[in-house]
Amino acid sequence: MEFSIKNGNVEKELSDCVIVGVYESQQLTTAAQAIDAASAGYIASILKRGDMDGKLEATLMLHSVPGTQSARVLLVGLGKEAEFTEKQYCKAVRASVKALANSGAGKVTTFLAELAVKQLSTQRKVALMAEATLDATYKFDAIKRKKDEANDDAKKGISTLSINVAQANEVQLAETGLADGIALAAGVSLAKDLGNLPPNICTPTYLAEQALAMGKTYGFDVEVLEQDALEKLGMGSFLGVTQGSEEPPKFIIMQHLKGNKEQKPVVLVGKGITFDTGGISLKPGSEMDEMKYDMCGAASVLGTFKTIASMNLGLNVIGIIPSCENMPDGRATRPGDVLTSMSGLTIEVLNTDAEGRLILCDALTYAERFEPSAVVDVATLTGACVVALGHHASGLFSNNDDLAKELLQAGEASLDRAWHMPMWDDYQPLLDSNFADIANIGGRAGGSITAACFLSRFTKKYDWAHLDIAGTAWKSGKEKGGTGRPVPLLTEFLVARANKAN
Ligand code: BES
Ligand code: MN
Ligand code: ZN
Repeated sequence: MEFSIKNGNVEKELSDCVIVGVYESQQLTTAAQAIDAASAGYIASILKRGDMDGKLEATLMLHSVPGTQSARVLLVGLGKEAEFTEKQYCKAVRASVKALANSGAGKVTTFLAELAVKQLSTQRKVALMAEATLDATYKFDAIKRKKDEANDDAKKGISTLSINVAQANEVQLAETGLADGIALAAGVSLAKDLGNLPPNICTPTYLAEQALAMGKTYGFDVEVLEQDALEKLGMGSFLGVTQGSEEPPKFIIMQHLKGNKEQKPVVLVGKGITFDTGGISLKPGSEMDEMKYDMCGAASVLGTFKTIASMNLGLNVIGIIPSCENMPDGRATRPGDVLTSMSGLTIEVLNTDAEGRLILCDALTYAERFEPSAVVDVATLTGACVVALGHHASGLFSNNDDLAKELLQAGEASLDRAWHMPMWDDYQPLLDSNFADIANIGGRAGGSITAACFLSRFTKKYDWAHLDIAGTAWKSGKEKGGTGRPVPLLTEFLVARANKAN
């Protein structure tokens, strides 16, 4: 989809469709008023008939409205004016885009960005417009055989979206917002694609290739460590997980160094299990296909790198992705095995399905060498987190309350929320082992917390936060698919840090 910024009059706009909003109780927005005036009260008469109640997300398509130049006018319900905030704005944008998905209107101009949304600048409104539009029109058909049908579908819906702003002097800021929104959407879309790809295609090798290609495109440094290098580093915990798989493990390191030289980097670490069978502690069969999404932490780090690279964000950021499969096999790690992590701590593997923490702990130890200002790991770590928080918020754990606050705020600002979970020392003894320094599970109760406690044993040397995205990274059921979360949260966090640094 192409985007552009405009500043013009709705009734004179010459396109396949103009999008204008109406509030509940028949209250017209400025653009709807202008059409109403040009058409001698046509809009008001339609509302009176009761075909459009203005409820949030309601839509009504009008054709050949008198006094206008565009072939169609799409009315979009905005709900109550007093309650029209960021969330409602995004919902209205999505509804307008979805309403046009199967129409013949390709060249479309929207007037929704003109609406007053509490505390939002034009720049932000335009960024959200682009982001929400691209999110709502995302399709994953890369590996469908019926390419022609997919192409026919692609011919429908919006091809060019012009976003109108109320004042000519807002155009410049709107352009900036548009570029931000498109950059974020590109990262979100990449994270969705990687998640949605089948696990026989999206292997650790595939992820490494994607990282290398992206580094080439944007000009940042990418290094991929292979099995022998991981052995030399002493990553016994990570290697213990991969040893039951035929796919070679990859340890990906990306370096976006666009801050000043002395600035300590932010390190993002993403869990990259490209398929999680549970290993010898095999998972039950139902919905096991969804364990292809167990690399969504890695996907979100790759997506965030795409976004910040295309924004050319002035910050030093390192991305680390330990990636392998968790498979049962004659050589697989057994429950009861003891692994020696890169940190030297020995780990009793009581359940091979608690593998995420086993690959992350070595990556977190590796992160020390960058003398980070903060480390944030992102992982589809525990089913227990889904039980605790459902599918709306990611679980946030941290050894530093200021860092936790930064991330919570970034989540609020980007509508990609996290919730702060406790990680008190009281939980630590649950990880005691009779045979090693630490066990890899802490029992059923508080499962997402003990998982975080496990990671905390390896993050003592820096400020660290952990995002458990098991409930937010993908959707199940009819709408099964990756969400691209938490790319918006991570991007917002990094942008805020860059603003503070510069
Ligand atoms: N990848 C899973 C976590 C998961 C499960 C995410 C279901 C989303 C939906 C992780 O590797 C895992 O299996 N965790 C175990 C830990 C347990 C053995 C302590 C879990 O959550 O059951
Ligand atoms: Mn598992
Ligand atoms: Zn897993």
